[in-house]
Amino acid sequence: SQLAGLDASKLTITKTTTPKERLPNEQLVFGKTFTDHMLIIDWDAEKGWLTPQIKPYGPLVMDPSACVFHYAFELFEGLKAYKDAEGKVRMFRPDMNMARMNKSAARICLPTFDSEELLKMIGELLKLDNKFIPDERGYSLYIRPTMIGTDPGLGVHTPSKAQIFVICSPVGPYYKTGFKAVSLEATDYAVRAWPGGVGDKKLGANYAPCIKPQLEAAARGFQQNLWLFGPEKNITEVGTMNFFAVFKDAVTGKKELVTAPLDGTILEGITRDSILSLCRERLSKDEWTISERYCSIDEVKEAADKGLLVEAFGSGTAAVVSPVKSIGYHNQNIEVPLLPGEQFGPLTKQIADWIAELQYGIVESDWSRVI
Ligand code: COI
Repeated sequence: SQLAGLDASKLTITKTTTPKERLPNEQLVFGKTFTDHMLIIDWDAEKGWLTPQIKPYGPLVMDPSACVFHYAFELFEGLKAYKDAEGKVRMFRPDMNMARMNKSAARICLPTFDSEELLKMIGELLKLDNKFIPDERGYSLYIRPTMIGTDPGLGVHTPSKAQIFVICSPVGPYYKTGFKAVSLEATDYAVRAWPGGVGDKKLGANYAPCIKPQLEAAARGFQQNLWLFGPEKNITEVGTMNFFAVFKDAVTGKKELVTAPLDGTILEGITRDSILSLCRERLSKDEWTISERYCSIDEVKEAADKGLLVEAFGSGTAAVVSPVKSIGYHNQNIEVPLLPGEQFGPLTKQIADWIAELQYGIVESDWSRVI
């Protein structure tokens, strides 16, 4: 076609004249402060991808009728860059984020793009803003690629103008004092995603409706929602994360790691995928089964009653793994075991260590992309 593809070789860079200082690590709050620069690329249905620009971080100027503001033409990604012991900057499985971003874009009729070209340009942004990437273990740079429809006009149709922008925020451990196990309220009166819907895409529109149920759970003393679906009350996700549980077989003692299958209602988490791969590769097959299958809240309750629930945790890019300590469900309380005196179970900790070693390049792998 005549349309221009995304082309990193055309990138122009305008440096800030008012550079900022990075906050000391202990003052970093997730997504509150940003680096000096951002990457912006406009798209036009007649021309394709226009000249990519890195420029000083700052406000966007947009027509108030732009379709992003009215019909939620918006999708995003979240990935992290880490500084290793030699000062090299590494992104963790960024190809997975680019593939998912393209799937999200295709679903809401925004333009797709060459993943490798966008990754090269994100690499340039990281080089320019290198001083904002913390080098301490537990700290990283959270990268937020975003795509919006910028078409002015209130007609509901395929956007003829769009924009990718990428902003970056230095972040610390999600929980300042190490792990903090969370309490969940099993939620069946509100639904996060449904068959034929878009729960498997990273659309901003999936997030806003989840805040009210979270506030309602919080008012009853729970930190997050455990999202259930259907008459079976299958567990789908937890808060904004994928959900994992570990069960033990009463007879054989064999353990099973369970997470929901990717049936279109589950966000295709990159941490979820990493956990499944690592556990399939590294856990003893005699002692473990790794399952992507439906699992209801009743199954979890029954297992807990029999002492066969071993642990439970959420997984996501922001917190990596987030241990669960209890689940409230219709006035019943399901206690999830933690190691004595700790805020986590043994597999949760093992997985956190395995993933950190790969993210910080302590263990080399092709999941780590050096820029
Ligand atoms: C996660 O990384 O767990 C997320 O869902 C990102 C969140 C900040 C929206």
